[in-house]
Amino acid sequence: MKFTILTIFPEMFAPLQESILKRAQDANLIQIKLVNFRDYAESKHKNVDDIPYGGGMGMVLKPEPIHRAVRDSQREDQRQRIILLSPQGRVFDQRTASRLAAYEELVFICGHYEGFDERIRVLADEEVSIGDFVLTGGEIAAMAIVDAVSRLIPGVLGKESSSEEDSHSGGLLEYPQYTRPPDFEGMKVPEVLLSGHHKKIQEWRRKESLRRTFLRRPELLDEAQLQTGDWELFEELVLEYPELASYRSKWEHLKPRSAKIRKKKDS
Ligand code: ADE
Repeated sequence: MKFTILTIFPEMFAPLQESILKRAQDANLIQIKLVNFRDYAESKHKNVDDIPYGGGMGMVLKPEPIHRAVRDSQREDQRQRIILLSPQGRVFDQRTASRLAAYEELVFICGHYEGFDERIRVLADEEVSIGDFVLTGGEIAAMAIVDAVSRLIPGVLGKESSSEEDSHSGGLLEYPQYTRPPDFEGMKVPEVLLSGHHKKIQEWRRKESLRRTFLRRPELLDEAQLQTGDWELFEELVLEYPELASYRSKWEHLKPRSAKIRKKKDS
């Protein structure tokens, strides 16, 4: 997968040359190309910004250098996606990361300074924000997206690790993890994880994942990919957190018919 990043601050991207992303580039699983769109400025002083029409504070990125830079990187097929980073874009999430990972090339346009000329927007296939806060430019946002998308590319995380059990991958938060020692200053690793009982461990992890999601980000349950056995785990959790019962419609359809009939008889 190729990432082309249009920016006037290519030096900001040093973090992409470390750790897992460095290894992925060395293995040619991903390529990162930095394009300084100041090189596309025509004026003698290579100006990329100017004062805003209508007055106001700050400077605005000019349309010409960015248009020329994008034209130079543009391909004629559908496997390339041009993304404008801006706090006005759709908020990036794990689902967007998976969708973007299917392209062959992502081109990022990083705005900087106070804003960009509105005529830059027409270049983008989509506009993406990394959250409801304002950064000094799109560079850090681009890095976050390159990182999140890269780790979904097969081989990038290595053989042993997989992104499938990550927080958010099925719309749920990840279960708690432990390593040695089994007892750290009185804080014990849950017994079940030491048991070696694979099925019980899987079940515990799923339940803790549901618990975490409910306690920390209940709104994620609306979109989460729930599984057949989840209803039983939810019913167990309802006994601990009666407020969870108001979400029952989310997992009711997972109940096998026999369980529904049993419930009717019980009541
Ligand atoms: N540029 C400035 N703020 C941003 C944000 N939140 N997301 C993406 N790009 C930005």
